[in-house]
Amino acid sequence: MSIENVAPPDLIRVDNLSKHFPITRGTLFRRETGAVKAVDRVSFSVSPGKTLGLVGESGCGKSTVGRLLVRLINASDGTIWMDGTDITNISGSDLFRRRRDLQFVFQDPMSSLNPRARVDSIIAEPLIVRGSEAAACRHRVAELLELVGLSPSHARRFPHEFSGGQRQRVGIARALATNPRFIVCDEAVSALDVSVQAQIINLLKRLQSEMGLSYLFVAHDLSVVKHISDEVAVMYLGRIVEIGDKHKVYARPAHPYTQALLSAVPRHGSVARRGAGRQVLTGELPNPINPPGGCPFHTRCPQAMPRCAIERPELVHVANGQQAACHLLE
Ligand SMILES: Nc1ncnc2c1ncn2[C@@H]1O[C@H](COP(=O)(O)OP(=O)(O)OP(=O)(O)O)[C@@H](O)[C@H]1O
Ligand code: SF4
Ligand SMILES: [Mg+2]
Repeated sequence: MSIENVAPPDLIRVDNLSKHFPITRGTLFRRETGAVKAVDRVSFSVSPGKTLGLVGESGCGKSTVGRLLVRLINASDGTIWMDGTDITNISGSDLFRRRRDLQFVFQDPMSSLNPRARVDSIIAEPLIVRGSEAAACRHRVAELLELVGLSPSHARRFPHEFSGGQRQRVGIARALATNPRFIVCDEAVSALDVSVQAQIINLLKRLQSEMGLSYLFVAHDLSVVKHISDEVAVMYLGRIVEIGDKHKVYARPAHPYTQALLSAVPRHGSVARRGAGRQVLTGELPNPINPPGGCPFHTRCPQAMPRCAIERPELVHVANGQQAACHLLE
């Protein structure tokens, strides 16, 4: 086989990744009474320099996926590969070394940044824990502030002296300090005004093309991830129900849940899709502690059939190239 025919290896790949949080009862003698399947057998990959958008309603497991990937929490089951190496259970110095490459940008910069620390020490902290000297840190902080579109003269300010968008730039600068290769952006623009969202997304895209970064970009709705993602994954109650190339998923969503989410997305800056083909998402999201049997979406699905309450659909390849988990597609 010639070298040119070999596809570049995935930067990140997860296979059947699961995270179950135990539910406990009792105050004195705590006992386990069950588990929330926050993430349930999720598989996907992210190529170098690419973005996977991860969307779904509140509580579907998006942040848990992100926290698993950067190893802030341990998986209950499944495997996380980075550059072809299994990093699922690494710890100690192996994990410390890997963390340089795996960073996280949070939704609320004010709560994720120490309000009493000045911006230079917030950004330099990941370098200080790695033993960088003061002069090198100062130089790197100035470089990072410029990289994210802030003035190095603002290094001695406190987070509250910046606007929301500027604080998010500080969060991004901190995430970039160790020169990572993969960043989880967890609702990184969700709290910002639409115009500021666009500026931060443009910044993330520029940094990606300049530095070859890969992102997992988490958001509630499909409109936010549209402009930054190469691939999109849609989660429902801990599982991926559809995943595929962004253009294909947006043009021809295969899963009824994706269709409903897209129906709610304003098109061309106007109102959401109307009339024929529009699907309105009704009903409450089921309690993840006690999810419905069969297809977990059957309690809200406008196309549900009797078998949907009994049989759980698995992800299958659909004609359009993406994968979706729905009996209508089998
Ligand atoms: N540490 C924890 N202990 C117990 N349950 C947890 C824990 N963290 C998350 N969960 C539960 O796991 C499920 C998934 O949570 P997660 O925060 O990943 O969802 P999410 O999609 O990020 O939601 P949101 O959009 O609101 O941020 C939820 O039911 C949540 O209550
Ligand atoms: S399997 Fe049934 S309930 Fe689930 S999405 Fe498909 S049609 Fe709807
Ligand atoms: Mg979340």
